Amino acid sequence: MAKQGGALGRVILVIAAILIGVPGLAVLGIGGIVAWRYLLRPESTPTYTNIVEHWKYGSIGSEVTGLPYWVWKALPVLFPEKLPNGDLSSIGLLYETDASGNKLDLPIGLSRRTLQGVERAWFNCALCHTGTVQKTADGAREIVSGMPSNNLDMHGLIAFVVGISDDPRLAPDSLIPAMKKAGAKLDLIDEAFWRFLAIPVLRETLLQQRANLEPLLAYQPVWGPGRVDTFNPYKVIQFHEKFDDLTEAEKVGVSDFPTTFNQRPRGDQNMELHWDGNNPSLQERNLSAALGAGVTETSVDHPAIDRIAEWLLDLRPAPSPYTPDPAKVEAGKAVYMAQCATCHGFQGPDGYVFEGEYLGKVEPNAKLGADRSRLDSYTQKLRDYQLTLFKDVDGGKYQFRHFRKTDGYANLPLDGLWLRAPYMHNGSVPTLADLLLPPEQRPKAFLRGSDVLDAEKGGFVAPACVPGEKVEKGFCYDTSVRGNGNGGHLYGTDLSGSDKDALVAYLLTF
Ligand code: HEC
Ligand code: HEC
Repeated sequence: MAKQGGALGRVILVIAAILIGVPGLAVLGIGGIVAWRYLLRPESTPTYTNIVEHWKYGSIGSEVTGLPYWVWKALPVLFPEKLPNGDLSSIGLLYETDASGNKLDLPIGLSRRTLQGVERAWFNCALCHTGTVQKTADGAREIVSGMPSNNLDMHGLIAFVVGISDDPRLAPDSLIPAMKKAGAKLDLIDEAFWRFLAIPVLRETLLQQRANLEPLLAYQPVWGPGRVDTFNPYKVIQFHEKFDDLTEAEKVGVSDFPTTFNQRPRGDQNMELHWDGNNPSLQERNLSAALGAGVTETSVDHPAIDRIAEWLLDLRPAPSPYTPDPAKVEAGKAVYMAQCATCHGFQGPDGYVFEGEYLGKVEPNAKLGADRSRLDSYTQKLRDYQLTLFKDVDGGKYQFRHFRKTDGYANLPLDGLWLRAPYMHNGSVPTLADLLLPPEQRPKAFLRGSDVLDAEKGGFVAPACVPGEKVEKGFCYDTSVRGNGNGGHLYGTDLSGSDKDALVAYLLTF
């Protein structure tokens, strides 16, 4: 049988060779191998049985938007000046080590999926929702899932990825050797595939993304760590709006990464969340987050996101490590219950209590007086666009229905407050004690990027800095810059010194 098959194969080859010639046959053969190795390969992604591993490294279906795995690995080889640490920790991504102490291959927040034979890596939820904390300056650095990614320089990451699009080093002659140096094993056919197909397509895609994003990056002040413009990249990438055509009012919408703890009460009570309270549906908030991470209507991995969503329902922050004076805490609680709890809920002995008349509702900014930029960056037009998403897939089952344009910011629960600094939607107030000062007395410029707790004021250590001057470590956050305003939220600012002290003591227990 095998022999007969072999003979038949030879006859077919000879006939084919006569018909299309030997070179034609070679081309066909190589084409066949490329098709077999790459284009016809079924999709695959690693699965993680442990939910925390799934959160940190599992795919949500964003990789179609992403870079090939071997290009990620080649970047530190090619661009050492941009990645001085030799990996993506230079822009605030977090690496873990395995049981033998070896650094893992990819940082938290990058997941892999093989599409058409090429392994790719791109963002998952943990990229923006996993941070670090040090209880003291020389203490151990703990990685906390669900807290804001206080180290991540998303602006730096985007600028870096689109910035290399026309760098000569991204050409096959340097990229292929860098991939090999990073460990890629490529034979001649693989090399030809990368040289003539994969790398040109990659460059083309990156150039296109750069054209979309460059005007935004050029216009907006540098964000600094722990922040992203939530909706403007979405407008230019997903909805093909030209940045220059956006209205002046909506062009800057830089926000802090929020926590993703305790989603169950937020969902059950239909709290109007996102910083501006634009959506009361938990499922829609998760799905729109996935779009921000790079999934498309068709690439999105719903079961993978459902697994995360289920876990986030009851993910609790670790209890606050502070041990303030109990008498002060008691006094502070009385002040808080009178002045704050209706909007925010409160901390009870066994955890956070999600109760309050206005909890999860939007406070009009005319009364609140916070910086408007994030509010104004979300427009009715964008909302109308969003409602067209997922309309034509899966019978419209995932279509957005609940987004709405609001006029303020959400009265959000304050669970896990010890992990959330700097405070307010734009991270403009470094500590809890500072939030109780009248706006003109709050710090005008301070360092962001530290994860060392400040046990006095509540938050991370954030010394004053001078905008424009070089800083040793961290990022100088300037509240006078567009979108960074620290005004508003006057609650508690007129309390007596001792009441403020007590209130901070109570807040330290959240
Ligand atoms: C690129 C960074 C980024 C990624 C990736 C990301 N998020 Fe977020 N997420 C944010 C930001 C920023 C906000 C706040 C948005 C706003 O209101 O401006 C947010 C808000 C949220 C909220 C609402 C929080 C609240 O209480 O208002 C939830 C829930 C959430 N994200 C879950 C997820 C999930 C689940 C994923 C993965 C499917 C994910 N996020 C991926 C940046 C990100
Ligand atoms: C009328 C409703 C309301 C009252 C009363 C109120 N707040 Fe707020 N609070 C808000 C809103 C809205 C925000 C979000 C503002 C923003 O993100 O810009 C907020 C934000 C905060 C934050 C920052 C949360 C974060 O994750 O960054 C803290 C802390 C806070 N409030 C504490 C207090 C304290 C303490 C009191 C009482 C002295 C108080 N609030 C009273 C509405 C209220």
